[in-house]
Amino acid sequence: MKVTVFGIGYVGLVQAAVLAEVGHDVMCVDIDENKVNALKKGNIPIFEPGLAPLVQKNYEAGNLHFTTNAKTGVEHGSIQFIAVGTPPDEDGSADLKYVTAVARTIAEYMIEHKIVIDKSTVPVGTADKVRDVMAAELRQRGCQLSFDVVSNPEFLKEGAAVADCMRPERIVLGTDNSAAIEPLRELYEPFNRNHDRMILMDIRSAELTKYAANCMLATKISFMNEMANLAELLGADIEKVRQGIGSDPRIGYHFIYPGSGYGGSCFPKDVQALIRTAEHIGYQPKLLQAVEQVNNQQKHKLAQFIQQHFGNDIQGKIFALWGLAFKPNTDDMREASSRVLMETLWQLGATVQAYDPEAMSEAQRIYGQRADLRLMGTKEAALQDADALVICTEWQNFRVPDFDLMKKTLKQPLIFDGRNLFDPDRLYARGFTYYAIGRGASVQPVI
Ligand code: UDX
Repeated sequence: MKVTVFGIGYVGLVQAAVLAEVGHDVMCVDIDENKVNALKKGNIPIFEPGLAPLVQKNYEAGNLHFTTNAKTGVEHGSIQFIAVGTPPDEDGSADLKYVTAVARTIAEYMIEHKIVIDKSTVPVGTADKVRDVMAAELRQRGCQLSFDVVSNPEFLKEGAAVADCMRPERIVLGTDNSAAIEPLRELYEPFNRNHDRMILMDIRSAELTKYAANCMLATKISFMNEMANLAELLGADIEKVRQGIGSDPRIGYHFIYPGSGYGGSCFPKDVQALIRTAEHIGYQPKLLQAVEQVNNQQKHKLAQFIQQHFGNDIQGKIFALWGLAFKPNTDDMREASSRVLMETLWQLGATVQAYDPEAMSEAQRIYGQRADLRLMGTKEAALQDADALVICTEWQNFRVPDFDLMKKTLKQPLIFDGRNLFDPDRLYARGFTYYAIGRGASVQPVI
């Protein structure tokens, strides 16, 4: 099938590559000429396992195209994906200007029926806006053309985006016209083998499903972080508690890992956007507000432990930092807890020696050259002459470090772990002081 994808960001590029891989003829449109030219030369703007070869192979095979020409894009696909960004505006609501601009463009150039799919994470009611914008544009053109708007939210995870897209757990389709479903069944058929993953519903329910999913996951994390804070004050070990509750299948083991807060491009933005949506319609979403507050506080946890340990004596200290990305297998530092940590340490006059397997150039791009940030080539180099090690991301190769070497390299055997990678007793046996989230030296019971 001929498909057009507007917006070559994370969601758009992965979706386009995967659709091309199964044989669809996919045209990607973006206003960013540099990005389009880079992609044509095989330069992928994001780090995502498996994506670069997929893009290159399908581009060379001629079933994945890149253009800045919107008219070409509209003419190409009977199905038009809107996968442009919805950045938060000043008050945290999702800004829909890019989405509505694409809708207008599609209506401006279309000369036959189109199915328009909202793939971006958009507030409830956006499909109605897309429909209104398109209808107005067609009226202005004096055209009687018909079109369908479908909400088809994306649930991919960074770092596993290609796999998630290739083998989706569900394909949520929200539409008010059942005639739009058959072409979408055909589009997604290669991803829908063995058992039917399509969940059909009305448009608004599909739009809310995306937010409900992300907010539920964020809630699980903030809940666990709150339990970890309580464990510290009550003298318990949150990792034992996690295992204890996860064994109940109604709770489950997934997504109950305490840590230094959730980051990334989705959870913080989506929780905030749903709060704003609720407030706009006069509803106080108390639980979501708490989820956000707990997470914002949690990002300060590591800096608090450091201050608790060193008192006011932080000026001039050097901290080794392992992990800059908001999670492993990505170079993305958006809303990462490492940023809150570094910025606090800098304010206190400390220097950070950081290492991340993928996010070094991203850190360079965000912070530029500064004397108090040293980007180190290896995780061992980051330890050199440092007063302590701080861990913000659970990259696999941080899990079994050479503790003897670490002890020799650090000025003192001291670790602040925001991802609970190690067993406190083992570290104590080796002579380390080990602060973690809801366990280790962080546990200081008040009763
Ligand atoms: C998320 C959703 O998982 C995905 O379905 C949606 O489409 C987009 O948002 P992503 O942002 O890529 O995906 O990352 P995810 O793996 O969900 O992790 C988000 C954050 O939560 C990370 O900072 C991670 O460290 C944190 N997290 C996750 C925890 O602190 N504890 C957990 O138990 C799980």
